[in-house]
Amino acid sequence: MAIEPHALDRLRDLLPPPDWALFEPEIAAIAELKRRRKAVVLAHNYQTPEIFHGVADVVGDSLHLARVAAGLEAEVIVMAGVHFMAETVKLLNPRRRVLMPDLEAGCSLASSITPEDVLALKAAHPGVPVVTYVNTSAAVKAVSDICCTSGNARAVVESLGVPRVLMLPDEYLARNVARETHVEIIAWNGHCEVHERFTPADIAELRETYPGVTVLAHPECPPEVVAVADLSGSTAVMANYVAAHKPARVVLLTECSMSDNVALLHPDTDFVRPCNLCPHMKRITLKAIRAALEEDRHEVTVDPAIAVPARRSIERMLAL
Ligand code: 13P
Ligand code: SF4
Repeated sequence: MAIEPHALDRLRDLLPPPDWALFEPEIAAIAELKRRRKAVVLAHNYQTPEIFHGVADVVGDSLHLARVAAGLEAEVIVMAGVHFMAETVKLLNPRRRVLMPDLEAGCSLASSITPEDVLALKAAHPGVPVVTYVNTSAAVKAVSDICCTSGNARAVVESLGVPRVLMLPDEYLARNVARETHVEIIAWNGHCEVHERFTPADIAELRETYPGVTVLAHPECPPEVVAVADLSGSTAVMANYVAAHKPARVVLLTECSMSDNVALLHPDTDFVRPCNLCPHMKRITLKAIRAALEEDRHEVTVDPAIAVPARRSIERMLAL
């Protein structure tokens, strides 16, 4: 999603004055710290609007953030997202200082699998390449062949030119890709705690309550949900769809802040907002970003023995 220069003005107009009064000094302080420390803030689409529209220099889905991270000039990079995203930035910028506003911001998918699990799967399926979702630790990436994101998963799987792949750790993403390709996919049983809660019944109810609503679902949702949505795609695919098609009424089956951020840019579209919060993404606040920059705290590092093979898996994906 492009940074929209007037979005912050719109946010100020939309927010209750007491909320804006709390955010404004933090936003100004972070702008000054960024200048002083030659720092940039990368923000995932699930960050709250005051972060997304207020202090981010780059916003987007996991794939976009990984691509941009590869060519950053800044001395300090603050990752407003979750820990695996900060590790990816560090792997692609080994000489830069990468800060996380809160080191506890994890991900249920990343914590669903260990490197030992991957090695056991490889032993059980000799010769089958391992395609690993970026929502994993650097240690898991290090024992994988190639990474993927929700934006390129099918292309990555098909690029390998093999009849069968192991696709880890998101069972639903794997099954959703399996519906679209002839490559046989062996999945793991990890789930996103946010997206696994959506059900086909939710969509049926939405369609009944809001006739004509366009339903977009993230591919981390169960396949039964994706099957009855109008379109499934990464957070960037959803944002681009709204920008291109300008639906009269839309629902984004994903994390709550996503709709808030996109809605601010498209005041003529009616956003229906049943959403699920990601508690990990919500650990990141303006205060935490400011403190990370002020106190130079929560640096993210990756053991060099892990970094070399993990970087190879990410770079293989980015080269596609
Ligand atoms: P995207 O790659 O679509 O931004 O998704 C990342 C994520 O964590 C979704 O839950
Ligand atoms: Fe992980 Fe799900 Fe949160 Fe994305 S929304 S960071 S996949 S727990």
